[in-house]
Amino acid sequence: MYFPKGDHSDDILEEARQGEVLDYQSRVKAGGRQYYIESYGCQMNFSDSEIVASILAQEGLSSTKDISSADFVFLNTCSIREKAEDTVRNRLKEIQAYKKKNQNLKVGVLGCMAERLKSKFLEEEKLVDLVVGPDAYRDLPSLLDQVDSGEKGVNVYLSREETYADISPLRLDSNGVCAFISIMRGCDNMCSFCVVPFTRGRERSRDLYSIVAEAKDLFQQGFREVTLLGQNVDSYKWTNPESNELIDFSMLLEQVALVNPDLRIRFSTSHPKDITDEVLHVIAKYDNICNYIHLPVQSGNSRILKLMNRTYDRDWYLNRVDAIYKIIPDCAISSDMIAGFCSESDEEHQDTLSIMEYANYSYAYMFAYSERPGTLAAKKLKDDIPEEIKKQRLSEIIRLQRQLSYMHNLKDVGQTYKVLIEGNSKKSEDEFKGRNSQNKMIIFPKNNMLKAGDYVNVKIISASSATLTGQIVD
Ligand code: SAH
Ligand code: SF4
Ligand code: F3S
Repeated sequence: MYFPKGDHSDDILEEARQGEVLDYQSRVKAGGRQYYIESYGCQMNFSDSEIVASILAQEGLSSTKDISSADFVFLNTCSIREKAEDTVRNRLKEIQAYKKKNQNLKVGVLGCMAERLKSKFLEEEKLVDLVVGPDAYRDLPSLLDQVDSGEKGVNVYLSREETYADISPLRLDSNGVCAFISIMRGCDNMCSFCVVPFTRGRERSRDLYSIVAEAKDLFQQGFREVTLLGQNVDSYKWTNPESNELIDFSMLLEQVALVNPDLRIRFSTSHPKDITDEVLHVIAKYDNICNYIHLPVQSGNSRILKLMNRTYDRDWYLNRVDAIYKIIPDCAISSDMIAGFCSESDEEHQDTLSIMEYANYSYAYMFAYSERPGTLAAKKLKDDIPEEIKKQRLSEIIRLQRQLSYMHNLKDVGQTYKVLIEGNSKKSEDEFKGRNSQNKMIIFPKNNMLKAGDYVNVKIISASSATLTGQIVD
């Protein structure tokens, strides 16, 4: 059963009227309770909130964007850096004020921070009623019953199998054009700095057919772009129980590309150790698979990469970059970098700057190293780079990336790109925004014949380090 995009209670009632879900109408009428949800961290968490929304809809709960009219507040949290957790703690303080006004308001913490802190959360933050880890969302209905009866609810069980394959996400805050599809969960890589294997558990891949069905369904609803999500999409592996055929990421990508040539495919995140030439050839073969790869390097130095347990070295990464530009010449590559990892010397930091130039990233997410409790690095390595040095290295990385992005964008001036219109630009109702295959955001004056979800050719007339502006051409 699929709940269409947008919001929510009307859709549920409509489905009920059509007789698909017989008891919804009565449940919604009897309860009519509303929840407010905020998601932090990665796209995975945003996508999980849509699974949570679907599960809550089946309980007759509808979402509201107005926190003061909510019966439940859910924060879908992130633990990736200390700052991410601080943000959630601060938000909980603000939510305390709403709980004072509405004694019945229940507060649930979901996601990675819930998984990391488990029931400790209930001790540390008295206002929290519910703690639910990323693999336990199916248990939300019974946890909500528990909370209704005045108890606190906790489920942080991590599963080896859960992929929520049969749950059709209820699209939240959707522009009706772009959607996420989760293709796998968890991570088995154990990068020494990273908390994800502990908060999301073991890697498991979702049934190919359920992924293709979700893509088809989205296309039929008018969506024109899907992003396939996983911590390491290149290690997607699913065995068809009937034929015993092993499906890898290149095969999955091809199957999703075949759904419709007008459905654009993106994917994230690619891991340098696992991205194969087959995947690159499939990207090159299909016009609707975007020429954009997010390939986080983390560091450009082989000794640091070894300490990070990334399982590739500088040469391996350079070889993957060469392969990408050879097989997909107009591909854009983006990256993640960590400044000031344990024992990193200034020369080793310079290696990160030089690999950025070599790879010519169009975009990057850049971070100062933040030690996370329980990780291999926290156990075995000393977080010995002083904060000011981390900051200084980070600002050098940011400065260089700004230049690289600007140069990358300048090269686009004069070119014409096929752009998928996502909606109005933030600044003006007279302008559209949309992205090209290389994931560059392009702003251009409207033409009234066109609407969100349409493709249009746009000639680029100017560039900044963040955006391109252009004009529609025939
Ligand atoms: N699965 C993805 C990354 C997921 S986390 C991959 O392997 O690339 C997103 C990014 O957060 C990472 O790429 C890394 O750059 C950053 N990150 C993770 N742990 C961190 C930490 N302890 N301190 C600083 N940055 C971190
Ligand atoms: Fe974390 Fe590494 Fe897994 Fe990415 S691949 S989620 S950085 S452990
Ligand atoms: Fe954060 Fe968890 Fe994603 S730690 S980055 S929300 S997988």
